[in-house]
Amino acid sequence: MDLAPELSKQLDEAARVIVASQHVVALVGAGLSVESGIPPFRGPGGLWTKYGEPDMFGYQRFLEDPKRWWQERITRTPAYQELMEALEGARPNPGHYALKEMEELGFLHHIITQNVDNLHYEAGSRAVTEIHGNYRKLRCIRCNTRWPREEFPITEIPPRCPHCSGLVKSDTVMFGEPIPSDALEECIRQTAMCDCMLLVGTSAVVYPAAGFPVDVKRQGGKLIEVNPMETNLTDLCDVVIRAPAGKALPALVERLRHLSGKS
Ligand code: APR
Repeated sequence: MDLAPELSKQLDEAARVIVASQHVVALVGAGLSVESGIPPFRGPGGLWTKYGEPDMFGYQRFLEDPKRWWQERITRTPAYQELMEALEGARPNPGHYALKEMEELGFLHHIITQNVDNLHYEAGSRAVTEIHGNYRKLRCIRCNTRWPREEFPITEIPPRCPHCSGLVKSDTVMFGEPIPSDALEECIRQTAMCDCMLLVGTSAVVYPAAGFPVDVKRQGGKLIEVNPMETNLTDLCDVVIRAPAGKALPALVERLRHLSGKS
C-alpha cells in the first residue's frame, strides 16, 4: 500500500514503540467502526452532532420506572433508531481485523472498547473489555450477569435476574449509569499494566475511558493516536497517525510482521 511519506514515517515509529513495549492496550472509540458504516457520535456525521447529546438522566429515568422504560423501548428516538439500524447491518472492517492480528502476533494484550457493536468479537479478537457494554446483550444491574438477548426469555416487564432478582436492562451503558464494576476493574487493571496505549478512533471526551491514557502517560507509558482528526489527547501522544483506522492499522500490522520477522 503506497502511503504518504509522513504517514509511513509515523507508522514506522509506532511499530518501533509497540515492539519495544511489554503490555500494549488499545483504547477504541466509535471512529474504528465508521468504516463499518456505523456513525460516530461527535464530529462530522456524528449522531450527537445531528440529534444533540442525550441528557445525563436516562439511567435515573430507568430506575424510577423500569417497566415504562422497557415498554418505551419499542418507540425509539431517531438517534437510537439510526444507531440500531447501522449496528444490525455492520460487519468488521480491516481495522478490526488488524487489531485481531496484532493480538495473534502478541503485540496487543487487551482492547478496551467504548463501542457496543460486538465487531471486535466478530473479527476474532478475544482479549476485549466492552466498557460501555454490548448492544446484543442484557445485564443484571445488581450482579452484572450478562446474557445474549436471544437467550433471555422475557416473561415479565421489567425482567428480573434469575440469580439475584435484580433488574435486567440492556447491557449498553446509559448516560448517567455507572460503568459495571467488573468491566471497570478490568480496565483499571489493564491500564495499570500498560506501557503503550493505542488510541484508535476516540475523541477522548467521555470518562472514565478518557482518563486511562492520562494514567498511562503519568506512569511513563507511550501513547499512539490513530485518528484522521486532532483530539484532546493529541498533544500528550508520542506518535500521531493522522489517518483512518481502516487504512492505518493494516499498514501498522505489516510493519509489525516485518519487524518481528513474521512477514
Ligand atoms: N478512523 C479512526 N478514527 C476516526 C475515523 C476513522 N475512519 N472516523 C472518525 N474518527 C474519529 C473522530 O475524529 C473522533 O475523534 O473517531 C472519533 C469519534 O469520536 P466520538 O464520536 O466521540 O466517539 P467516542 O470517542 O467513541 O465516544 C465515546 O461517547 O456518547 C458516548 O457512549 C458513547 O462510547 C461513546 C463515547
